[in-house]
Amino acid sequence: MKLLGSLFCREVREVSKSRIGWIGIGNMGRPMSKRLIDADYALVVYNRTRERTAELANLGARVASTPKELAQEVEIIFTMVADSAALETVTLPPSGVLAGAKPGSVIVDMSTISPDTSIQLAKAAEEINVSLLRAPVSGSTAMAEAGTLGIMVSGSQDSYERALPLLQVLGKKIFYLGLGEEARYMKLAVNMIIGATCQGMAEALVFGKRAGLAADKMLEVINNSAIASPFTNYKTKMLVTRDFTPAFTVRMMEKDLDLALSQATQLHVPVPLTAYVRQMLTAAKATGKGNLDFCSLCLLAEELAGLDK
Ligand SMILES: NC(=O)c1ccc[n+]([C@@H]2O[C@H](COP(=O)([O-])OP(=O)(O)OC[C@H]3O[C@@H](n4cnc5c(N)ncnc54)[C@H](OP(=O)(O)O)[C@@H]3O)[C@@H](O)[C@H]2O)c1
Repeated sequence: MKLLGSLFCREVREVSKSRIGWIGIGNMGRPMSKRLIDADYALVVYNRTRERTAELANLGARVASTPKELAQEVEIIFTMVADSAALETVTLPPSGVLAGAKPGSVIVDMSTISPDTSIQLAKAAEEINVSLLRAPVSGSTAMAEAGTLGIMVSGSQDSYERALPLLQVLGKKIFYLGLGEEARYMKLAVNMIIGATCQGMAEALVFGKRAGLAADKMLEVINNSAIASPFTNYKTKMLVTRDFTPAFTVRMMEKDLDLALSQATQLHVPVPLTAYVRQMLTAAKATGKGNLDFCSLCLLAEELAGLDK
């Protein structure tokens, strides 16, 4: 009886949870797609570097050879890739998602990309009756693993409602912001503040270090002060252990601030602080930190103060 019951439950679950597509198994895409598998969704996955799909294949995901093949098998397609060019590559060519997507499908793009690229992709998708949900995330790889990302969403409300149960597996706070590119701008705004906060912390920590304060004590005070935030808390370990293994690289932050600067220019909005942080990221990359976490801005601040000697 118990066995029959569990078989029945499994059947009901399989009917109610249709197969989901996931493109992009990078630092973020890997833990996020694993959460969907853990939540009993059947996944078809695609990654440019096929070897990176092995772990998910072992967990039961089917690996597609092209984004087109993946799109032919599902109705909801998640994309979590590096940048605008990567998103174009997996969606627009003859081997891309749009070449295979069934009418009525939804693409849920969670990458941080340009609002301009997003508009173009949404138009191309609409022409074949496919909807683009913009759903960039804020948070870290650890938050992706824990399912506690912040998710900013814009696009059709119907598509949002269809994707919501899946988004709830990936994030704790989900914000529906409008019908167009609102989520893209919101994500860039958040990263403008994160970049500036990181640079501020870099300067303050070096200032304190030169005056004789220990980094761990400073961070303990910072995390209990008015400027404490999830960001200051989750970067504390990295700053104390000085292990800058990337959760989010200098190069990635450069990409996001470039997008913010370009949009700000189009919108005629001066953003001098963002421009300044962008220059410091250039210096971080030029001094060999491009593939480290962007909190290596703290190492750069030490070098500028002669504290690395
Ligand atoms: N990491 C974070 O903490 C964080 C936080 C919030 C938002 N984000 C955003 O999330 C997105 C993914 O970040 P991530 O940290 O997961 O990056 P990542 O580890 O570098 O992974 C990037 C993914 O994009 C794929 N890709 C790159 N270029 C491609 C191309 N030309 N064609 C097809 N696929 C391509 C990569 O495939 P390969 O495996 O073949 O290289 C990989 O699957 C980015 O837009 C980032 O800004 C990241």
